[in-house]
Amino acid sequence: MSVLTIRVCSNHDIHIIGEITRTALREAYPDSFFETIGNYWPEGFLVAESGGQIVGFVMGIISGVKQARILMLAVQEPYRRNGIASTLIRSFKSSCLMKGLDSIILEVRISNTPAINLYGKFGFKLTSTLRGYYRDGEDGYRMELVLQS
Ligand SMILES: CC(C)(COP(=O)(O)OP(=O)(O)OC[C@H]1O[C@@H](n2cnc3c(N)ncnc32)[C@H](O)[C@@H]1OP(=O)(O)O)[C@@H](O)C(=O)NCCC(=O)NCCS
Repeated sequence: MSVLTIRVCSNHDIHIIGEITRTALREAYPDSFFETIGNYWPEGFLVAESGGQIVGFVMGIISGVKQARILMLAVQEPYRRNGIASTLIRSFKSSCLMKGLDSIILEVRISNTPAINLYGKFGFKLTSTLRGYYRDGEDGYRMELVLQS
């Protein structure tokens, strides 16, 4: 794989981010949704680029006093298991620390073993089970990482 670069998402990337969201997360949002989130906290919306292609992204918001929330994280299928999501999470953690935040929360489907393993590896702990959290009725886990600067 070519060299991996992590950078802030630009408006030119939004179209491909929408496509990755549709294929990897099976969710559809208008471009304006991603633009609004990106304007709110640019350093919390990061893309992974390799060989001139966007291969993954992480998108988060500031959701409370000193708290970030990861809304989406995805890597294109052919590029998985290469440490790309891990690199995105490390960069996202750096953005949080630079902003003076002290925790990150997220929600994940209880069936999503790859993501649960990934977050567990980074020290995220399960804090609650969210019954019927997803539109199709699946339960979710809320997970939290307490950041140490
Ligand atoms: C979850 C996802 C982002 C992981 O991306 P990735 O770039 O492949 O992840 P990494 O290569 O950084 O993997 C890091 C760790 O995550 C875990 N992991 C990743 N994929 C896994 C899989 N298929 N099965 C089990 N564990 C897995 C492992 O612990 C892995 O460490 P290891 O390779 O040393 O075993 C990717 O599979 C994806 O985009 N899935 C679809 C979208 C999604 O579910 N997003 C999360 C929503 S909450």
